Amino acid sequence: MRKMHEFVLPSICALLFLCAASSRAAEKTPAAPYLNPKLSIEQRVEDLLGRMTLEEKIGQMNQYIAPRYARASEPQEVTPRIEDLMKKGLVGSFLFVLDTTEANYLQRIAQNSRLGIPLINGIDAVHGLCPVRGATIFPVPVAMGGTFDPDLVERASRVTARETRASGMHWAFYPVLEVAREPRWGRSAEVFSEDPHLVEQMGLAVVRGFQGRGPGDPESIIACLKHYVAHGQPLGGRNTAPVDVSERYLRSNFFPPFEAAVKAGAGSVMAAYHEINGVPCHASEYILNDVLRGEWGFNGFVVSDWGGIERLVDPHRTAANMKEAVRQAMVAGVDMHMQGDGFTEPLIELVREGVIPESRVDQSARRILKVKMQMGLFENRYLDPAKSAKVMGAPEHVKVALEAARKSIVLLENKGGILPLKKDLKRVMVTGPGADDNSLMGDWTAPQPDGNVITVLEGIRAAVSKGTEVNYVPSGKIFEISEETIKQAVEAARAADVAVLVVGDNDARYDSEGKWDRPRRERTGGEGIDRGDCLDLLGGQLELVQAVYATGTPTVVVLINGRPLAVSWVAENVPALIEAWEPGLVGGQAVAEVLFGDINPSGKLSTSFPRSAGQLPVYYNHPYSAEVDYKFGPWKPLYEFGQGLSYTTYEYGAPVVPSRVLPGQEIPVSVEVSNTGKMAGEESVLLFVSDEVSSVATPVKALKAFQRIALAPGEKKTVTFKLSYSQLAMYDRDMRHVVEPGWFKVSAGGKEARFEVTR
Ligand code: BGC
Repeated sequence: MRKMHEFVLPSICALLFLCAASSRAAEKTPAAPYLNPKLSIEQRVEDLLGRMTLEEKIGQMNQYIAPRYARASEPQEVTPRIEDLMKKGLVGSFLFVLDTTEANYLQRIAQNSRLGIPLINGIDAVHGLCPVRGATIFPVPVAMGGTFDPDLVERASRVTARETRASGMHWAFYPVLEVAREPRWGRSAEVFSEDPHLVEQMGLAVVRGFQGRGPGDPESIIACLKHYVAHGQPLGGRNTAPVDVSERYLRSNFFPPFEAAVKAGAGSVMAAYHEINGVPCHASEYILNDVLRGEWGFNGFVVSDWGGIERLVDPHRTAANMKEAVRQAMVAGVDMHMQGDGFTEPLIELVREGVIPESRVDQSARRILKVKMQMGLFENRYLDPAKSAKVMGAPEHVKVALEAARKSIVLLENKGGILPLKKDLKRVMVTGPGADDNSLMGDWTAPQPDGNVITVLEGIRAAVSKGTEVNYVPSGKIFEISEETIKQAVEAARAADVAVLVVGDNDARYDSEGKWDRPRRERTGGEGIDRGDCLDLLGGQLELVQAVYATGTPTVVVLINGRPLAVSWVAENVPALIEAWEPGLVGGQAVAEVLFGDINPSGKLSTSFPRSAGQLPVYYNHPYSAEVDYKFGPWKPLYEFGQGLSYTTYEYGAPVVPSRVLPGQEIPVSVEVSNTGKMAGEESVLLFVSDEVSSVATPVKALKAFQRIALAPGEKKTVTFKLSYSQLAMYDRDMRHVVEPGWFKVSAGGKEARFEVTR
């Protein structure tokens, strides 16, 4: 077995090696048109395809996990064999290449293959380049959604693109464009919102941030829209479980963000694990071909999710064996297999037997090669490690992460105005499992150097005055809270002016010792960690909050979590509640700034909070008929989409809209907003539209536009929106996308106005 140190080539050797390698490839085929950057991409791709064997073409469709990551996270010993495959040109892509040394090493092997085709490497850069040490980690997408600031999301995505490229990868498996409709689902943090329009706008911002400067830009990466489609509403909240939705529901809620991002030029799409109405996405011609390519004109490539083709055999059982699974995926339109063995041989056989025409393989290889050419990978495949090191976690990158954390924190309760806290309190007690650990960085994140991270405790210590004592009482991890730690917290709370409890979830993949938390000892959320009947605070967290609250010391609860939690008791009793989400690398600073009034909270909920798991589904844009109370409780959620308090107050005027709209007309709407309090603030103005009567049931209201504005105390601003006529459309009984004449309502900040669409 090859030893780990063999991968860690000193960078100078690596560079010398690379120069030699590149001249060898050029010698092999000196005049080959595919190596000539002066020719058009089409000419080069066709020339290359003409030189490739069937095996080599299928090789381009094959992705493998990178050796170093495989050893850290997967019990596989892959490298010598994979190296052999690479030499034969049978691997086109890797995922999770974690540093420049490995990236250069792998590219060198690829360059030494017969045709020297470069690798395209991908990674889950979901909220920053999280799986890489030293990266800039942003708040999780559900938090970013609540900033209502697409410009910020675009800038954050540029940072991620730069760092991803600097690490030897070219492609992020992101944005996640699902619409969150199931908070029991452990991946809720990866989703921007329960609202399709917000998901769409944020998704477009990511695509601009990743790809906006064009594929040839050396700091750009290609986006991968996932998980296509409807992954955000699995039955029972169980990851990858079946999805059963009507076509109307799909087209009204789940398709629009994907359609918009495809039309904006996103380079790739990842098929979702689940089946929709019985047909697995990986085998669905309707989803992958008719809609994606036929209706929306997608011309990038489709990658399977990890093992998604294998899943057609088990658990979907639509294929009796892998050969049939590959056939189904090829017919449906999958272009690349993630990941590993089992794909090449069946596909070769299927082509040799005439079941799959070779032209279908050409089609996929062409799509992948085109992206490689467009990105300039044939000309620039190696990295200078020293240059790359400067890019990772650069101070200007961390600044954007801090801005994002500041803008995404949501103030949910502030009874009696107990916040902001004074900085010169005598003693602040801090406790809770999230106070001083890595849960604030969310899922996908590798352990980060201590010096890069600011936890809530560290943020509080830095924020208070010199004379303030910060008394930290470690509570233990979520499942470690004991009677003893609660007792200690209670004693400390009694002696403090204020108690800050940091509780919630822990989505981190790595445990507190920096090891992969495979046995899920500490994790309570993230991929594969779903909840059944309970969205409450787990472990002894609620007992801890209740005991501290009972001391009578003013209590503040800070939630660190990636999914909406059912926190009714906290909401009703505890005076101050802050939803910090998983605010990222320096999120602790932002939380402290909110606590002590250095910044005015401005995030709003991107997703509603249920009162209990039994109340699900809960989302604000439900049909009118969903508003039915239970015998023992209301239908209304605990907190609704768009909620979020501030240290100042805003007053809205009624929206101004023309009373009549003719077919095809644009609809101008203006809303006046004033800051009527004493502190400067930022307010996201959300504009909703309701169709009062229509031939099929429509949502009570639906977000159609939003804008974030800054207002000084006493300042008034008029925000102007222009709604397009098609934003009023719905799918009628015959599934036509039409605007039905009649009365509509626009609302913002609780004020509304009506207008009529006439014929
Ligand atoms: C997830 C994808 C991810 C892939 C590669 C899968 O388990 O569903 O979202 O991109 O792994 O990490």
